[in-house]
Amino acid sequence: KKCPIKPTEMARNYEVDRNTKSQETVYTTSNGCPVPHPYATQRAGVNGPLLLQDFHLIDLLSHFDRERIPERVVHAKGSGAHGVWECTDGLEDLCMADMFKKGKQCPITIRFSTVGGESGSPDLARDPRGFAIKFKTQEGNWDFVGNNTPVFFLRDPAKFPHFIHTQKRDPATHLAGGDDSTMFWDYLSQNPEAVHQVMILMGDRGIPQGWRFMHGYYGHTLKIVKKDGSWVYAQFHILSDQGVKTFTAEEAASQSADYGQKDLFESIQKGDFPSWTMKVQTMTPTEAEELWEKQRINVFDLTHIWPQKQFPLRTIGKLTLNENAQNYFAEVEQAAFNPAHMIPGIEPSADPVLQSRLFSYPDAHRHRIGANYQQLPVNSPICPFKLGNFQRDGQMAFFNQGSRPAYLSSIEPIQFKDRPYDLNKVHGKFVGEAISYLSEIRPEDFNAPRKLWQDVFPIESKKRFIKTVSGHMKTCREKEILKRQIAIFRHVSPELAEGLEKELGIKGYESIEGMYFNGTHNGMGSRKIPANGM
Ligand code: HEM
Repeated sequence: KKCPIKPTEMARNYEVDRNTKSQETVYTTSNGCPVPHPYATQRAGVNGPLLLQDFHLIDLLSHFDRERIPERVVHAKGSGAHGVWECTDGLEDLCMADMFKKGKQCPITIRFSTVGGESGSPDLARDPRGFAIKFKTQEGNWDFVGNNTPVFFLRDPAKFPHFIHTQKRDPATHLAGGDDSTMFWDYLSQNPEAVHQVMILMGDRGIPQGWRFMHGYYGHTLKIVKKDGSWVYAQFHILSDQGVKTFTAEEAASQSADYGQKDLFESIQKGDFPSWTMKVQTMTPTEAEELWEKQRINVFDLTHIWPQKQFPLRTIGKLTLNENAQNYFAEVEQAAFNPAHMIPGIEPSADPVLQSRLFSYPDAHRHRIGANYQQLPVNSPICPFKLGNFQRDGQMAFFNQGSRPAYLSSIEPIQFKDRPYDLNKVHGKFVGEAISYLSEIRPEDFNAPRKLWQDVFPIESKKRFIKTVSGHMKTCREKEILKRQIAIFRHVSPELAEGLEKELGIKGYESIEGMYFNGTHNGMGSRKIPANGM
């Protein structure tokens, strides 16, 4: 006789479980057997050893022993919440993505983070901030994995692990940057293309006031595509409706380590929902080539920005965070954001850093969470159709696709959607010359940092910048490194270099002309960095 209840039925459903009050639940072991009290260790007699048969205790301890998963190798400290995307203005004339049709809504999860620090490190560290968004659209998930600055330290992905290692603990002393900044400045003084990002990091915008008062930038150039296969380049900006607010180093030092978490959680809890406006800059392939020819700005180089006067921002929609996670681990820590999660209408550009990130994130997720991480509720897509594919098994295979064939069967065929557009058309054309300039320093690398110093930073900001950088440099053990870095700053502005020299009481090198940088190809061999025009 068949049992009326299926053995595959579960007592739990995620949505029900996360909203269930403690008072409504009954204490059980993990196999669902009620236990009268949690402190019920079995021992042999009054003073005897413990019993191996005590599954309740073994269940408890062995699960406890496995509570930790690896923290993210970067961006380990963060906060997250859920909310909604609404396309207020539409982008149908340029992009076929369903979520960009005017009036469309979808659920979102956002995770903000610092970059270099460990999971328990302070939210208010001077560090770029991660700004990662999962849009659960009708066509699959689009993950926007950006930062709060539009540029980055590098354009050659091979440098990323080196750079990040200089932010982490020293292998011998186990000291982090606060006590010893030698590695940090060693890297930067050998890789001058980082100077634009360093100017932002060490300037007044270096410490955002929690997570609500900062913008987010995709940073990389993307391609947005229409149904006919035509496309333009795009740069996405997420601008804070709360405005931008920052802390000085002194203000940040006096706040709690979890300032960002507390501020975000409490504001959502009391109904003061933070929101952001999504905007986009677009550029045709021809304009991109002209930008390179005339202004030496390569759209595949994320150490540079697109000038906003030439490529104005256009509003697409709004993101609002209106729900805290019920369970931080399940809904934020296990969230897996991946730049390779794209939807029809959004394509990667040839930016080499973006290209390598497309590999790195899902690779990290398989290590950090496991092969079936996409099946977890926070990561799982929500589409109007039933999902199927040929991935099977592995640890925690929750949705293992029943008895459906695990190969491309002609007996029980799977359905396919039409190709969204002619791929040949989308991938046909690339702007050239990105590769050859990956690790070469160019005069243009100094244009934006110089503009920041000369035209953007007011006098008080300049003073603070010199104080911040020199304060940080004081824990650098090698004078030689500082002399090099001062030469790089002199290239931005002699006034800046002199200010640092005065604070530090040392003389930096006069010029980067003829200097060798181990991070640049034109500083290592016969092709030295040219002096003129810089
Ligand atoms: C996190 C790699 C550059 C933004 C991560 C993680 C890895 C990684 C392995 C951890 C992922 C996880 O465990 O979930 C890289 C590599 C890069 C790079 C190899 C360059 C070659 C960038 C850039 C940005 C960025 C340029 C921003 C424009 C983020 C953010 C997170 C992150 C926001 C945290 C996502 C979250 O909250 O879970 N990165 N990254 N990364 N990265 Fe990158």
